[in-house]
Amino acid sequence: MHAVQYPHVNIRQLGIQQKQLPIYRSLFNNLQSNIILPHDDHLTTLLFIRFNTEDKTLLIAIKAWIQQFATRISSTAQQLGKCSSKRGIKHKHTSGLYINFFLSAVGYERLSLPLSAFDSRPKEKGFEKGMKKTIQELYDPEVSQWESPFQQEIDALILVGSGPFQESAIKRSTRKKLLATEVASIKRCLKGVAKVVHQENGETLYNDEQQAIEHFGFRDNISNPDFFSPSLKLIPSSMTGQNGEVAAAKAYSVLPNRAQHEDWDHRASLRTVLAPDPFVYKDETTPYYGSFLVFRKLEQDVDAFNEDMRAMALKLFGDADQHEKAAALVMGRFRNGTPITLSDKATNALSGENDFHYMKDTAGNRCPFHAHIRRMNPRGDAEKEYGLSEYYHYIVRRSTSYGKIEDEKAPKGMLFLCYQSNVNKQFMELQQKWANHQNFIHRDSGTDALIGNRENANSKWPDKYDSPSRKHFQLKEYVRFRGGEYFFAPSIYFLKNIVRISQQYSKDT
Ligand code: HEM
Repeated sequence: MHAVQYPHVNIRQLGIQQKQLPIYRSLFNNLQSNIILPHDDHLTTLLFIRFNTEDKTLLIAIKAWIQQFATRISSTAQQLGKCSSKRGIKHKHTSGLYINFFLSAVGYERLSLPLSAFDSRPKEKGFEKGMKKTIQELYDPEVSQWESPFQQEIDALILVGSGPFQESAIKRSTRKKLLATEVASIKRCLKGVAKVVHQENGETLYNDEQQAIEHFGFRDNISNPDFFSPSLKLIPSSMTGQNGEVAAAKAYSVLPNRAQHEDWDHRASLRTVLAPDPFVYKDETTPYYGSFLVFRKLEQDVDAFNEDMRAMALKLFGDADQHEKAAALVMGRFRNGTPITLSDKATNALSGENDFHYMKDTAGNRCPFHAHIRRMNPRGDAEKEYGLSEYYHYIVRRSTSYGKIEDEKAPKGMLFLCYQSNVNKQFMELQQKWANHQNFIHRDSGTDALIGNRENANSKWPDKYDSPSRKHFQLKEYVRFRGGEYFFAPSIYFLKNIVRISQQYSKDT
C-alpha cells in the first residue's frame, strides 16, 4: 500500500494566493482555526482543564475523549470556507460558534506524551518550562500572588468563541445562550475524564463606531501579521469601519517591498506562527502543524490610568484636559487608532493606519521609544540598530476583554492571547528583552510605558510635538499580571488519532 503523498508546502512563502489554496488544503484541514485568520470574536469562553490522571487506567479514556472531541474542533479550512467567496477571501467575521483545544507542557506529560518530542526545537524552552517557571525572565510576580486558579497546574485549555452579533441576524442574547449551551455540553461530556478548574468569560468591547477596543478605550488589533497576499483582497476587519475601506485600499494599492522599507510591510509567512506538530510531523511534505499559544490574564486599572493621564497632561502641557494627547504618548496611538508619529491629533483619516514607520521620528520627538506600540514593533528601528529581522519576533494577537465596562467596581482587563511558532523567540523576547529592557535600541529609553516594569521606566516625555523638549512624569502601574500559561494548539490530525499515536510513547498500554 502506498503512503498518501501530500504536496510540498513552502511555509516560508510570503503571502498565500487564492490559486494556491488547493496546495494548502491538507494543512488547513488539520490546522485549528483563529490562528492565521481572526474569528473576530464577540464572546469567548476559556475553560481551563485538569485531566483525571490520578487513576492511570483512565489514561486511555481521556485520550479517547480527546479523539472524540477533536471532531468538534474548528479548522482553518472551515474558517476559510466561511469567509471566502468567488471574489477572494473576504476578511469578514465567521458567524456561529467555534472551538479550539490546547495542551500545556504539563498536559502532554500527564498524557504520557514526552516533551522530548519538542526537542528538535531546542530554543523552545519557555513552553516546556511553563509560565510559572519563567517569572524571573519576565518580571512577573511570584506565583503565590497570581489568582488562585492559575497557581495550580493546568493541563489543557478549551476555547469556545462566537462571532460578533452586529453583522448577523442572530441577536446578542441568543448568541449568549448558544454559547452557554455549548459550554454546558462540553462540561457535561468532560465528566469522569477531566475537571474544569477555572473559567474565564471574554467579550469584545466596541467604541461608538463599532470598532473593537480594549478597556482603556483604544482601538485594538489594528496591527497583526497578514498571511495572505493583496491579490486575495483581504481586508482586515481592523481596517474596516468608519474610514476602513479607505485605509485598506491605500494599504494595498502598493505592494510593500520589504527591501525598500518604504512602508511597514505587515505580511508574514506561515513560518511566523506555525510549528510542526512534533508527534506526527515527519518531513516537509507532512501537513500537520500547530502553533504555540500564550495566555496571560492582565488586569487593567482604568480609573488609575485616566486619572494619571490627566495629571500627565497637566504636567506636560499645563492643561489636564489634554489627557488624550498624554494617553497617545503612552500607547503610541490615539484612542481612535491614529499613530502619534503621523499626527499630533486624532484624525478619522488615520484611525486604522498601519502602513507607517518611525524613520521621520528617529529621535522619538513625536512617538517616544517607550510608547507601547513603538516598543512592541519598532518597524525597522531594531533592524537598523541590531541588524536583526524584527519579523522573527512577530506575534499574532487574538486577545479579548473581561469584566463589565459599565460596572466601575468590577475587576476588568485583557485576556491576552497570542500565537507564534516559538514562545522564546517571540512572546518571551518581546516581554523580556523589548518591553522590560531599559536600553532597548536607545540608551536609557526605559521600559514599555504600558506593560514594562516600573523600576526602569523612562519618565521623560516630549511636551512639544516634534521637538527635542522633554518634561518628567513618572507613570503609575495600570496593568497587573494575574496568571497565565503557555499552550500548544496541536494539529487536528494528531488529536483525532491521539490513541494510536500515543501508543508508541505511553506507558499506559
Ligand atoms: C492590558 C495590556 C495591553 C493593552 C491594553 C494593550 C493595548 C494595545 C493597543 C491599544 C495596541 C494598538 C492597536 C494595534 O496596533 O493593534 C497594541 C498593539 C500591540 N501590542 Fe499591546 N496591549 C497590551 C498587552 C500587550 C502584551 C502583553 C504584548 C506582548 C508582549 C503586546 C503586544 C502588542 C503588539 C505586538 C502590538 C502591535 C504593535 C504594532 O505592530 O504597531 N501587548 N496593544
